[in-house]
Amino acid sequence: MRFSLSSRSRLTLPCVALTVNLLSGAVCGQVAFNPLEHSGPASPYFDAPSQSGIQVDTPAGCVVDQAAYIVRHGARYPEPGSFASWQSLFSKIQNASFTARGPLSFLPSWVPPVDDASHEIAFLSATGAAEAFGLGVGLRKRYGFTSGGGNLTVWSASQQRVLDTASYFLRGYLSQGSYLGLPTENRGTVVSLPDSVNFTFANSLTPTTSCPAFATGDTSSARANAFRASFQGAIAKRINKFLDGLQINSSDVGVMQDLCGFQAEINGDTRFCDVFQPSEWLDYEYADDLNYYYGSGPGNPFSGATGFPLLKAITDLFVLGPDRSTPFGSFVPPPLLMGFTHDNDLPPVISALGIWNDSDVSPLSPTTPNPKRHFRSSYLVAFRGYIALERLSCGAPEAPTVRHIPGQVNMQPGARADAAKFVRIRVNTSPVPVPECTSGPGLTCPLENFAKYVAKRGESVGDYITTCGLQDVSNATGTADFFTNIPAGTAMLLL
Ligand SMILES: *[C@@H]1O[C@H](CO)[C@@H](O)[C@H](O)[C@H]1NC(C)=O
Ligand SMILES: *[C@@H]1O[C@H](CO)[C@@H](O)[C@H](O)[C@H]1NC(C)=O
Ligand SMILES: *[C@@H]1O[C@H](CO)[C@@H](O)[C@H](O)[C@H]1NC(C)=O
Ligand SMILES: *[C@@H]1O[C@H](CO)[C@@H](O)[C@H](O)[C@H]1NC(C)=O
Ligand SMILES: *[C@@H]1O[C@H](CO)[C@@H](O)[C@H](O)[C@H]1NC(C)=O
Ligand SMILES: *[C@@H]1O[C@H](CO)[C@@H](O)[C@H](O)[C@H]1NC(C)=O
Repeated sequence: MRFSLSSRSRLTLPCVALTVNLLSGAVCGQVAFNPLEHSGPASPYFDAPSQSGIQVDTPAGCVVDQAAYIVRHGARYPEPGSFASWQSLFSKIQNASFTARGPLSFLPSWVPPVDDASHEIAFLSATGAAEAFGLGVGLRKRYGFTSGGGNLTVWSASQQRVLDTASYFLRGYLSQGSYLGLPTENRGTVVSLPDSVNFTFANSLTPTTSCPAFATGDTSSARANAFRASFQGAIAKRINKFLDGLQINSSDVGVMQDLCGFQAEINGDTRFCDVFQPSEWLDYEYADDLNYYYGSGPGNPFSGATGFPLLKAITDLFVLGPDRSTPFGSFVPPPLLMGFTHDNDLPPVISALGIWNDSDVSPLSPTTPNPKRHFRSSYLVAFRGYIALERLSCGAPEAPTVRHIPGQVNMQPGARADAAKFVRIRVNTSPVPVPECTSGPGLTCPLENFAKYVAKRGESVGDYITTCGLQDVSNATGTADFFTNIPAGTAMLLL
């Protein structure tokens, strides 16, 4: 990438005390400020920093024996609407006779980074494909659940960029060894679920669109726009000093800030990133935080009910464990459950889990960002962002001295019969504690307690059918069972 940090882009972070008891200390000092980690849904994937201070590594003595990932599609080209705004910025620039200086001296030579609109607009970029492939490689290495030659099935909402993310994930997950040309071994299947329709109800990776109440609880656009109006004008005024004969207005500022993340992932050009100052990026990011918090996240009173069925489905499979001889549906899902979907389908799972919404920093202020808030759009809905749940099997960690008997491979502590089971949450890599359930190794939650916690969350967020107002729809379903009962007639893509 051509991105270089200019001296303007350095910021001194205040000391942040780590709140988790096992670790004390503080992180502070001069840290390079990277706008690509503050671009909300336009951020290419990056590992979110640990907000809780919990170590990222699997705790000593534990192995993960089951995992579930709800994943946003990879980095993509713009939607038609944002592409139109790139084009009008371009024609505004091209129509003018002007001079540009300093950070804007590139404007006269800038062209929108789309060269084949019909195959690019709304589809993955090469970066998005690489993000998906990389996750596949990463999860094979992390878990080693399926052995060489074994097949893997994943689930995906059916919009093309989501299916393509699932396919590239599988290509990465199944990329080891000499299987590429073998038709019967190491094969992937993508279960393609209807995307953003109103007739699949809770049994979907896009459950919010079947919940009529959900839209009424969404107050995001007005809040995000009001916040943008509070800072974009001042930015326009500041950067217009670098221009003579061309006036950038506040909506152009929004387009230019979006172009930082998008152009970085499409062609590596980060010149728009260098135009703005750290405080301007933090305001830009906060508008997205408001957008997701009040749109599909904990600030929408119907969010938790729409995310809950999926959380419940995963929890039930974790309670059953990975080695089931009797499935409770017609299909035995693999120990790695992958669901690929859209940005707005991740915050409902955060709401159902009851995380990132601590009462001292919630609800988010419409006007004043609280730097202690946990809900950060950049740490969740960055491209290929995810919420992962891991089931851990843990025993006492190895003693400092370990004995070996000839011809006998020692069992890892977590693989022994006496191992206990725990759950942990990871969002874009970073572990997030389950509220009031951190007694396990590495502050994990004992599986039994996690199941009880999830049941309590279900009571608190409400049942899908009644909360969404679907009592009169005779075939509405409030449970997600697609992992174990693949709906009849579902398209299956074979790789
Ligand atoms: C800013 O200029 C663009 C043209 O680039 C125009 O479409 C838009 O309406 C203007 N916005 C405001 C807030 O004046
Ligand atoms: C640029 O000029 C073209 C041709 O005169 C016109 O159609 C277009 O609306 C102008 N665009 C802007 C953003 O002013
Ligand atoms: C793996 O998938 C291939 C292709 O669909 C199929 O022929 C083969 O039987 C599958 N193997 C197993 C073990 O299910
Ligand atoms: C789904 O949308 C259609 C078309 O807008 C509408 O007629 C139908 O009542 C909706 N169904 C549900 C269950 O909301
Ligand atoms: C519910 O009924 C509608 C209308 O007949 C149908 O389109 C839809 O697929 C059904 N949904 C479920 C989950 O059975
Ligand atoms: C988030 O916190 C706010 C304020 O405490 C509360 O009103 C809301 O119900 C919470 N959302 C969820 C999903 O728990």
